[in-house]
Amino acid sequence: MLELQNIVFKVPDAESASESPSFKTIINDVSFTFESGGFYAITGPNGSGKTTIAKLIMGINELTDGKIIFDGKDISKLPINERSRGGIVYGFQNPARFKGTTFRDLLSIAAGTDDEDQLAHIIARVGICSMDFLDKPVDSKLSGGEIKKIELATVIARNPKVAIYDEPDTGIDLWTIGPMVDLLKREQKENNTTTIVVSHNKAFLEAADTLLLLKDGKIGYKGDLAGAKPMLEDLSVCTFSDSCEGEGNARCYR
Ligand SMILES: Nc1ncnc2c1ncn2[C@@H]1O[C@H](COP(=O)(O)OP(=O)(O)O)[C@@H](O)[C@H]1O
Ligand SMILES: [Mg+2]
Repeated sequence: MLELQNIVFKVPDAESASESPSFKTIINDVSFTFESGGFYAITGPNGSGKTTIAKLIMGINELTDGKIIFDGKDISKLPINERSRGGIVYGFQNPARFKGTTFRDLLSIAAGTDDEDQLAHIIARVGICSMDFLDKPVDSKLSGGEIKKIELATVIARNPKVAIYDEPDTGIDLWTIGPMVDLLKREQKENNTTTIVVSHNKAFLEAADTLLLLKDGKIGYKGDLAGAKPMLEDLSVCTFSDSCEGEGNARCYR
């Protein structure tokens, strides 16, 4: 239902001589279909193009070549807001903090309502039990974990058809990862949300039905986690240590 057809993203090569501008290929002819309601993890070494793919799907970056088809419609040229209205929602790796804005403001915009009961229902879904949290300013005083919860809540509030989370575990303590995976799985199952998580985290890699391993802007592997392990270790994306199993430590060791 979300189909990447031979997508390419190139940027001007800063190192090339000005008389003969050349281009650096960041995403190199990637084709893949995300099925409706599936749970996908995109992983790969730093700089392999994970965030770029997420941004191309969302329309934050413009395709150099190829097409993106969503529910049978070519969305390649659509701006971000139209893709968002169509049900594609992106959770940033580093969410913005806005001085003078509260979580309630952001959530009301995302949910399209300021109805107290509806907001309470959404924050309960992400595991925030106190209504006081709604009046927290979304500024630099928030912890990494708090800002991520807020980001997740604003994605979920939109009832996305496709939710893309870019490294949602950034700044989150190990003990919060499990509940976060459970939350995204629940949203996937209950709302049939196609869920795409960019992550190195073992817990997300295990939760995914299908894993995409990017290498140098190409898909190096697609399939289940078992098949990906040799390549993940080879690329030093992760080393799967069993020594921490059972201790709640779901990290993918690098
Ligand atoms: N707009 C851009 N201009 C120049 N280089 C870019 C741009 N976007 C991404 N890159 C480069 O492309 C590579 C892939 O970036 P990114 O997708 O952020 O990697 P990842 O998320 O896998 O760590 C990096 O080397 C990054 O510096
Ligand atoms: Mg990234």
